[in-house]
Amino acid sequence: MDLKQFITVVPDYPKPGIQFKDITTLMDNGAAYKYATDQIVDYAREKQIDLVVGPEARGFIIGCPVAYSLEVGFAPVRKEGKLPREVARVEYGLEYGKDVLTIHKDAIKPGQRVLITDDLLATGGTIEATIKLVEELGGVVAGIAFLIELSYLDGRKLLDGYDVLTLMQY
Ligand code: PRP
Ligand code: MG
Repeated sequence: MDLKQFITVVPDYPKPGIQFKDITTLMDNGAAYKYATDQIVDYAREKQIDLVVGPEARGFIIGCPVAYSLEVGFAPVRKEGKLPREVARVEYGLEYGKDVLTIHKDAIKPGQRVLITDDLLATGGTIEATIKLVEELGGVVAGIAFLIELSYLDGRKLLDGYDVLTLMQY
């Protein structure tokens, strides 16, 4: 299946010059959403995954159905202040300024093999921060899967040494 036909490219959103890749038109097509999910599940099955981890919000959309299919758990990475118990935290750079991502400290047991999921690899900052959280808790990043990679932003250079799957490239 050619998944790109289900991505809507929205010009000048959220600001002039940006060609926004809207995944909602893939998600609301049941066959396309299942196909994309199954591609990631097939990738993950070979990696003996114990747990899926994804950053809010769009990382949940990809990661939760994958975790369900693999019959493993899903641990959310969230913005600061959203998780109620003790967290590990990491600051990461945004285009303008900084933000913080957190994960519950007991979400990962040392040595667990983790699949990280998100919708989009752009600069790689979000996933670099997510990797730091997983590794701080003793998790092993066994794979990282995205729907879309914006190759021209070169986010892959931050993921050097990790096993990365992207289903679509722009
Ligand atoms: C978007 C996207 C990725 C991230 C990619 O999330 O869902 O998580 O940006 O960019 P990067 O590779 O440059 O870090 P966003 O922060 O817009 O939040 P959302 O998922 O809650 O919509
Ligand atoms: Mg996101």
